[in-house]
Amino acid sequence: VDITDPRIEKYLKKLAPEGDPLLLEMEDLALGRGFPIVDRLVGRLLFVITRLKKPRLVVELGSGFGYSAYWFARALPEGSTVVLTDRSEENIGRARQTFEQAGMAQKAEFRAGDALDIAREYRDIDILFIDMDKRDYPRAVKALIPHLAPHALIIADNSLWYGRMLEGVNDEETRGIEEFNRLMAGHPEFFTSIVPLRDGVLISLKVA
Ligand SMILES: C[S@@+](CC[C@H](N)C(=O)[O-])C[C@H]1O[C@@H](n2cnc3c(N)ncnc32)[C@H](O)[C@@H]1O
Repeated sequence: VDITDPRIEKYLKKLAPEGDPLLLEMEDLALGRGFPIVDRLVGRLLFVITRLKKPRLVVELGSGFGYSAYWFARALPEGSTVVLTDRSEENIGRARQTFEQAGMAQKAEFRAGDALDIAREYRDIDILFIDMDKRDYPRAVKALIPHLAPHALIIADNSLWYGRMLEGVNDEETRGIEEFNRLMAGHPEFFTSIVPLRDGVLISLKVA
């Protein structure tokens, strides 16, 4: 299922030019390897949200080689940090290299290992960004809610999961996304909005 009409997506992309060679290089790498990144449109949304929120601490669950983190880092206020996590040492190494080239390494922590184990080490997370294995979304969010700062945001990619839940797909990943969406939409401590951009971006604001 297309979440947005491909013609609309193309139109939106035309309106989102980019001149940063490092960002373009990461986009090419993702395309070449078929590696799933949030893409430029979602990256720009993350940038806007980050500028508005002015977080001190952003923690990502599933950073790949650092494309989404790069958008967070670009938008972060002075002195704030984005924590990158990925189980692949190679991905994290590449992310570090890109951030160093961009002169942004001081804004980031690069952590290879299990995303959830690493994230548990942090307190007062202002933005928790979730883009790890889809079956683990519910478990991750349940474990990490106590680690959020007041008025924190949870942002999750692939919240519409290519519409698989509408097609009766019943695998672990689809069930994970469905449970996660229900959990956040009905959670008394959060106000949730799902933006149907690319594959769906869930944004939950902690209101209690
Ligand atoms: C969709 S990619 C992340 C893309 C990245 N957020 C971006 O937009 O640039 C998912 C990544 O999460 C990592 N991952 C999935 N589950 C994980 C876990 N439990 N712990 C650590 N890394 C995990 C995978 O290795 C993969 O690189």
